Amino acid sequence: MPIRRPVPAPPFNIVRASHVELAVRDLGASRAFYVDCLGYLVTDATGDALYLRGVEERNHHSIVLRRSQEIGVDALGFKLASEEDLDRAAFWFARNGLPTSFPELPYQGRTLRTADPLGMPLDFYFRMDQAELMLQRYAEYRGARIQRIDHLNCFTPDVQASNDFYNALGFRVTEYTETDDAEPKLWAVWMHRKGNVHDLALTTGRGPRLHHIGVWTAGALDILHLCDVMATSGYLTNMERGPGRHGISNAFFLYVRDPDGHRVELFSSDYLTVDPDLEPLRWSLSDPQRQTLWGHPAPKSWFEEGSAFAGVALREPALAAQPIVAR
Ligand SMILES: [Fe+2]
Repeated sequence: MPIRRPVPAPPFNIVRASHVELAVRDLGASRAFYVDCLGYLVTDATGDALYLRGVEERNHHSIVLRRSQEIGVDALGFKLASEEDLDRAAFWFARNGLPTSFPELPYQGRTLRTADPLGMPLDFYFRMDQAELMLQRYAEYRGARIQRIDHLNCFTPDVQASNDFYNALGFRVTEYTETDDAEPKLWAVWMHRKGNVHDLALTTGRGPRLHHIGVWTAGALDILHLCDVMATSGYLTNMERGPGRHGISNAFFLYVRDPDGHRVELFSSDYLTVDPDLEPLRWSLSDPQRQTLWGHPAPKSWFEEGSAFAGVALREPALAAQPIVAR
């Protein structure tokens, strides 16, 4: 059985996917893209970093953009339920032979930096500085009127191994793609902690790498408006895939690439998954409607390109099966 039974009492309590830090070459170009075009709010700006959040986010930031010559990703940030959970997490990772350190990070409390068994860097924390709620400051809305971070999607060379690891940490599978072999192999999984389709998606590919961050908009019209903005403000070629509706998750989506190639998904209208007896939905790798409900396949770049984690070695995927590709 490729999908494991849920773990109702995991070793520590992860609340949700929280933030990510991206290394970028030109902070001015990144600010124009994320703030002026997409609609992120700037919480703080320093000489070498921008701290951004969506209009409903109280946390200080959900994206950090840091200037660097080495384009990549530092770590994936997850919020825990308490400081005690942070101690439990440090104990659990050390006991399982995985790295643990506590780097000092601006605007947030004690932070455990570790990695999963495939090398994907993870940050766990409980406290972050809080910022003003901007949800009803409608005059400040721009671009896609981004509300909040929703999920992180990563390439992994071994989806089964990654699935088994995050399953043990209490992530629950809502939907999955597998091959049509007599003994089906997992191609991708969508796993959640917070109660919608996912906090973390894991997809077969050269990795580990970040495929995209998924950010929530209030509705499909916000995403369509962003298409019009991008098409008429110099960002036409930054639109990689969509707009469309996913089969998996039912979400309305648009994938865009930032000036350094980091991928962002504008994402809206998935569904509630809090029921403890919610059965995962299976999709066949050969079903084009899993990618796009309307049948359009994704471009080749979508399956091949992603953002590397700083200093993490890449492996080719163990599973050779190929998805349907548009061009
Ligand atoms: Fe996504």
